[in-house]
Amino acid sequence: MRKIHLFGNWKMNMLSQETDSFFTILAERLTQSPDLCLAVFPPSVYLERSRRSIVELGIADKVSLGVQNVYHEDKGAFTGEISPSMALDLGASYAILGHSERRSLFGETSEFVGRKVSFCFQKGLRPVLCVGETLEDRDKGLAWSVVEEQLSKGLLDLSDPSGLLVAYEPVWAIGTGRSASKEDAQGMCCDIRNWLAKKYDVRDIPVLYGGSVKPENAGEFFSTEDIDGALVGGASLNPKSFLDMIP
Ligand code: G3P
Repeated sequence: MRKIHLFGNWKMNMLSQETDSFFTILAERLTQSPDLCLAVFPPSVYLERSRRSIVELGIADKVSLGVQNVYHEDKGAFTGEISPSMALDLGASYAILGHSERRSLFGETSEFVGRKVSFCFQKGLRPVLCVGETLEDRDKGLAWSVVEEQLSKGLLDLSDPSGLLVAYEPVWAIGTGRSASKEDAQGMCCDIRNWLAKKYDVRDIPVLYGGSVKPENAGEFFSTEDIDGALVGGASLNPKSFLDMIP
């Protein structure tokens, strides 16, 4: 049975009380499922609080934690940054890397993202490499060439992909309420899987879709052959809607 990954990227949202109540409500309804991999990516300032919540609520075996970004050094004069070791120290298992908002707002290049991916693997933090095209790219027929560049440079130094996850997030579907069609998302995720299979000779690297996923459409994406889960933004902030996406 294929494992479905439901990952919630809180971005720069939620405060202490909201974080506490999120996990309390999650604990009330969450049931164990061997076919589900659940993870929440709070702002890093609330990682410790989140870890304490899932331990105290007895759901640490049902939900993992991640960070939304890390730097590719372990310590030093990098004001404002956090290291993979810090993320691991506070209970994170995953790191979202190369999110389109990091690329567009903070100028992260695919080469820079690649250095982070490589360093996370060295430290044992599982990267969720985000790739995705803009509407302009798509309208010009450049969607795949953009995604392929992000994959090839993001994974340039990676020889063993064990632990890698890839999230296809078309930029034009993020936060817009307009998700990609099931067919478009399946097509791109299939192309990503084929590219990974050609580079690494494996076909089981989880490929997630992100971009306006919500309870009403999550099941459609999960029903496809090549989408192994979702990286959810807005709809992950409400524990009830997050839970409603569990297949
Ligand atoms: O990383 C997930 C995020 O970019 C998707 O956001 O709000 O469209 O689900 P949203």
